Amino acid sequence: MANFVRGERMHGGMSDLPIAFERATVRAGAVTILDEITLTVSPGAPTLLIGPNGSGKSTLIKLGMGLIDASEGRVTWGGRTNAASPRRAMVFQRPIMLRRSAVANIEYALASRGVSRGEQARRADALLTQVGLRHLKDRPARRLSGGEQQRLALARALACDPEVLFLDEPTASLDPASTKAVEDIVRATADAGVKVVMASHDLGQAKRLAGDVVFLVRGRVAEQARSAQFFVAPATPEAKAFLRGDLVI
Ligand SMILES: Nc1ncnc2c1ncn2[C@@H]1O[C@H](COP(=O)(O)OP(=O)(O)OP(=O)(O)O)[C@@H](O)[C@H]1O
Ligand SMILES: [Mg+2]
Repeated sequence: MANFVRGERMHGGMSDLPIAFERATVRAGAVTILDEITLTVSPGAPTLLIGPNGSGKSTLIKLGMGLIDASEGRVTWGGRTNAASPRRAMVFQRPIMLRRSAVANIEYALASRGVSRGEQARRADALLTQVGLRHLKDRPARRLSGGEQQRLALARALACDPEVLFLDEPTASLDPASTKAVEDIVRATADAGVKVVMASHDLGQAKRLAGDVVFLVRGRVAEQARSAQFFVAPATPEAKAFLRGDLVI
């Protein structure tokens, strides 16, 4: 429950957890992207969202972040329906950087949290070191490679000191060493009491990081289980097929 204690200390007793999806449906025109999602995200080890391309992982993250509204049903954060919150941070599948240096992108995030200038430089340096980008701190962020931008986006999200951190495939374009670095950061962040909700198509990674798994197929939760349970004895035929590497559509 470190998470809760942390939330209380930092945010005057108002926690965003648990996040409860209650028959939440998201439609775009005639297309149903998420279909009656009922799911509770609780404090603890990372929740991993897995499922085929187009199954709704990114959309579920945006809904949980409060960036989009449910067409039907609802989402509550710590029992409240207020969508916007400084306690949640997100790394997009394709992060968008400000037209400034890497370090200035982090300092901007720190400034928006009211961190003093001197402190900004110190914290930005520590965050860039943590993600292995300190040597690139003065490079324009948009000139960084895809993988470097993903790590910068992670540092920027951590700068917000979130209670809940949503990560949408944060290692999708990273090499093995950078992937390991990001996984180490995710683990350390979770150990520090931050709730991580992360989409990944890397099953090995999901196994390494997950406390629980949410398996999506065609916009529905096909299965939610403890990680140990899911990977050893998946309950649904879809999950069995997916774990075997069969195409699930
Ligand atoms: N604004 C939109 N309008 C219409 N369809 C959309 C919209 N946003 C998403 N979709 C569709 O909803 C489905 C789910 O998309 P989403 O990006 O959530 O999937 P995903 O599981 O993250 O996929 P991937 O593994 O490829 O990242 C896709 O078929 C997508 O084309
Ligand atoms: Mg996605």
